[in-house]
Amino acid sequence: MSIALVIPDRKLDHLQQKLQQQLPGVLIEIWPEITDPAAVTFAVLWRQPPGCLLQMPNLQALQSFGAGVDNILTDDSLPDLPLARIVDPMLTQSMLNYLQGVVQHYQLRLDEFGAQQRKQIWKAKSPRKLQHICILGLGELGLAAATHFSRLGFQVSGWSATEKTLAEVRCFAGDAAFADAVREADLVICLLPLTRQTENLLEQQRLALFKPGVILVNVARGAIVDDLALLQNLDSGHIAAACLDVFRTEPLPPEHPFWQHPSILLTPHISAVTNADTAVAQIAENYRRSRAGLPLQNLVCQQRGY
Ligand code: NAP
Ligand code: GLV
Repeated sequence: MSIALVIPDRKLDHLQQKLQQQLPGVLIEIWPEITDPAAVTFAVLWRQPPGCLLQMPNLQALQSFGAGVDNILTDDSLPDLPLARIVDPMLTQSMLNYLQGVVQHYQLRLDEFGAQQRKQIWKAKSPRKLQHICILGLGELGLAAATHFSRLGFQVSGWSATEKTLAEVRCFAGDAAFADAVREADLVICLLPLTRQTENLLEQQRLALFKPGVILVNVARGAIVDDLALLQNLDSGHIAAACLDVFRTEPLPPEHPFWQHPSILLTPHISAVTNADTAVAQIAENYRRSRAGLPLQNLVCQQRGY
């Protein structure tokens, strides 16, 4: 029985060591250096090369090393096994810190003052009025963000697939309610999973439903936003600014127009990175559960895609 860490292009010594402390006696190896692929029963995955799990015929369970699973489910040869994801208060806190910083950045007009600085313009402006925030996606992260901003005194609306009732958050569900969810928002935060339903969801027609002058923050997945439609809306001023942490292709290719766009603030997918120190306990627990034939924690519905 062994565990394979299939997370290419990342230093995994720390994760391996922390997991080993939780699971003494269990062989934990870093793919592709797997001594006996037939002994692997549990795989921790993040952007695994498609097809690589075919080498491990006795897998019993899969664990995403992140909150999202889109990059795992794109593997056509993924075995039909239980798949769990990370749900960690530290990851949620990291996302809230990021979003809080971004909202303050725009409230204080640091985007505009940055542009002024580059032109040596000295011109005072009062803070931007950001009163209404809309959160697309009311799952682990969206719910936390909605509650956080509503406690800070913002009007908050939220949009999800299924109906929700939340104190102090106006909740909308389903395609037909999208326009009502976003109509009044000064700032829209995307916290949806990338699925067949949400790919290119934020295309021209839906962006047109946003309030003129809105700010868009995408911390979910790049492919939920139609890049070209976003650029057109930024150029026309319908969208005043966009903060993007995620991209269709990562790293963002050097020739991509987002890099140079004056109304885009971009960060390299860092808003909520899984912390091995805090996530390791649930990975170990899921390994134990898989060995005991118990349901995994934080299971993903593969059919739904999240
Ligand atoms: P989650 O708990 O699975 O929640 C997803 C939410 O999206 C749910 O409220 C769901 O509605 C809603 N949703 C799904 N499909 C929808 C659709 N077609 N229309 C309307 N609403 C829909 O996910 P999470 O943990 O909050 O994370 C969200 C995403 O954030 C992840 O999938 C990942 O891609 C991204 N993420 C990014 C970073 C980063 O560093 N940038 C870090 C962590 C996560 P229901 O509640 O009705 O099912
Ligand atoms: C990061 O993007 C995650 O899904 O955890």
